[in-house]
Parts: sequence; structure tokens; C-alpha cells
Amino acid sequence: MIQFPEFEYRQNTLFVEDVAIPELAFQYGTPCYIYSQAALYAQWNALRDAFSDISFLPCYSVKANSNIAILQLLAQWGSGFDIVSVGELDRVLLAGGAPEKIMFSGVVKREDELRKAIHSRIGCINIESKYELEKIVEIASEMQIPAKISLRINPDVDAKTHPYIATGLKESKFGIDIDQALPLYLSLKDNPWVVPVGIDCHIGSQITNTQPYKEAAVHVFEFIKDLEQAGIELQHVDLGGGFGIRYDQEQAPKFSAFADVITPLFSEKGYQLILEPGRSIIGNAGVLITTIEYIKETSVTSFAMVDAAMNDLIRPALYDAWHALLPVNRNDERVIKEYDVVGPVCESGDFFARKRSLNELRRGELLAIMSAGAYAMTMASNYNSRQRPCELLINGEDIQLIRRRDALEELWANEVALPTT
Ligand code: LLP
Repeated sequence: MIQFPEFEYRQNTLFVEDVAIPELAFQYGTPCYIYSQAALYAQWNALRDAFSDISFLPCYSVKANSNIAILQLLAQWGSGFDIVSVGELDRVLLAGGAPEKIMFSGVVKREDELRKAIHSRIGCINIESKYELEKIVEIASEMQIPAKISLRINPDVDAKTHPYIATGLKESKFGIDIDQALPLYLSLKDNPWVVPVGIDCHIGSQITNTQPYKEAAVHVFEFIKDLEQAGIELQHVDLGGGFGIRYDQEQAPKFSAFADVITPLFSEKGYQLILEPGRSIIGNAGVLITTIEYIKETSVTSFAMVDAAMNDLIRPALYDAWHALLPVNRNDERVIKEYDVVGPVCESGDFFARKRSLNELRRGELLAIMSAGAYAMTMASNYNSRQRPCELLINGEDIQLIRRRDALEELWANEVALPTT
């Protein structure tokens, strides 16, 4: 069985750190996200350790999990942040993140977003196209505030991951072709308002092999040689996020394995390394707890029908993603049966597992959907006018509600009813 640090059975009850999950479900209801602060810290620390030999700024990718309490912890631990919108920018600032440690990625940045980022004097804006560069030159010159930028180059590397989350191929919408980037850097040579401080790439997410990562880094450094020859001096190299985690039996390399292929490139050159990890920091620190409402047996399938749905965790529906399911009360003595674990939404895509062999499930029991710390709550919606789950942060015995469950009235709070006649 896969081990999830900080989530373990004590006398057959699943605990998160020192708190029994059934107690949380009783007190806060389900569906409910629960995060372990110790698991989060362990990953954060392992990342820092892995790259401690070189100058390194980890910039946590906010899109993975943007709860303010999570961002506060990371900011306290010294993290920078990778953001993709003004919404994320405001969250980070609210959480106490240092503006100079913020990297603004994002494929389409609106003018108001660029203005706000420049005004906040963030660390770097990662430019995705020639047109965005023209825009930022215009805006920064007008605002008379220097904008620090990188060009996000497309290294044309296959990250060998799900096609929806692969971003480094020539055909993808992301970044600037590596062979078109030099003239763009050169165009900034005498520009006082747009200052190139780095170079950036991101080849995809859930990468479980160090090779594509190394390949991308090598391409970037080859290009840096051209930049150096052209007299352009940068300070940092941002290799994006993407480190994979273990959901199932896949072998996700440790941070140190990625470090082994990346750091040699940096130790010679003296550039600061920036990484934008999201999933690898928080993915396995979170679970979604759901109650089995009904068991429905048809002539062909046993359905465990739960109170969480695709609106709460869309990864299985969207990417056919596999999440481990653990009974909150261990039931090893029961017979093993095959289940489709499905939610209440009127769509066949509303499932958490198909044909999954589990010890017999019963009504009223709790299931833990594992590895639900990243791209889970941030991708939740109110589809079917469902209230998004609450979120809890556990630290030892300490329980913090870090987000209330949506109240029903909040679902239509922004809507404007027609006047009644
Ligand atoms: N930097 C950039 C520019 C990105 O686009 C992303 C993720 C990251 C960093 C963080 O990547 P990570 O370290 O978390 O792999 N919703 C999908 C994942 C989408 C990833 C999008 N970009 C999922 O649930 O698998």
C-alpha cells in the first residue's frame, strides 16, 4: 500500500497528524478538505535542502492551493510565489508574501494585471510573447516604474505527462520559440523601464522522470551562452514547476534526484535558480473526506455513492486522474469487491474511481480521497449549486478551520434578480 506521511492508521482509524479524521468529519461535516502542516513543511524543507548548494529561490505555485493560511505559512518559511493573475497577487500580498519574491507567469496577462504587477514592484514578470513584451514596454515607460522581466522560452521538450498539462512542446500555446528570443532580449538593451533579469521555462506538470527536466535546462543554458555573447547578463534562471508526486504506483523522483541533474549546470555559472513547484509541495499534504451516502448494486456494477462530487475535485473527471481511496475506519477483514465510487452530479464523468477493488464499503462510512492537496480545492466550483467544501489545517493536535464551507446564500450573492413588478 502507498504510504502517505502524516496520514496513518492508529487502531484502525485514520489520523491526520494527532487528530482522528472521524472527529473532524463529525464536527465540520463532509465533504471536507484536510491538510497536514507537518507534511507541507516536510516537502518544503526537502526542496530547500535538495538545492542548498546553489543560490536558490523556491517560488511556490499558488494555483496548486491558494488558501491564504497555506500562503501565510509558506511566506513565513521564506517562500517566494509564482502567480498567474491579480487575484493570486492580492492573495500573496495579503498573506504577507514579499513582492520581490513574486514571479508572474500566465499566458494571457491583461493590461490592468501588468500595471498592478509593475506597481507592486514584483520580482519578475515572465513574458510569454513578443506582443506581451511590446505591451509591457509601453506600460512601464508610461508608468515610469522599472519592470523586471524574463522571457518564457519554449524549449521544445516532451515532458511525457498528460497532454493537458504538458506545456513545453513547440506546438503548445506557451512561451516564445527559443530561436525567436534573442532579438527580443536585444531589443531591451537601452530600455531603462524594462529590465531583463532572467529567463524562464516550464515544460509541464506531474513530471515523473528527471530526463525531460534536464533536457530543458540544458537547452536554456545553451541559449544563455548566446545571450552572454551578445552582452546580456541575467541574474536568474527559472525552470518552472512540474515535479511529480506519487498518486499510485508511479515512481516520483525525489527533489534530490532533480537537483542532481540541475545543480551542476548552476554551480559553474553562478545564476540564481528559481523553481515554481506547486503539486510537489502540497499535493500529498491534503485529503478530501467524503461520506458514503448509498451503495447501489446494479446487475453489472457496485456503486459507492458519496457526498463529494466532481465540482469538489475535478481531477478524475478532467484528466482521468487516479487518487488512492482509503477507508477512514480500516476494514481489512471484509471481502474485497469492485466499486465505482461516484458523486451526486448528473454527469457520468462525476466519479472518483472506476472498477476499484476495495474492502466492502457500507453506507454512512467515511472515505479519504488521498493526494488532494493540489489542484483540488483551487479547481472546485459551485456547479449544481453545490457549496464548496470547508478546509481544515492540522498541526499536531491543533485544528484550524481555514475556510468555511460556502453558505447557500453566497452561491447567488453576486446575482442580480430582475425587478418584481
Ligand atoms: N509554473 C507554471 C508556469 C505553471 O504553469 C505551473 C502549473 C506550475 C509552475 C506549477 O506546476 P506543478 O509544480 O504544480 O506541477 N490542474 C492540473 C495541473 C495544472 C498545472 C498547470 N501549471 C492537475 O490537476 O494535474
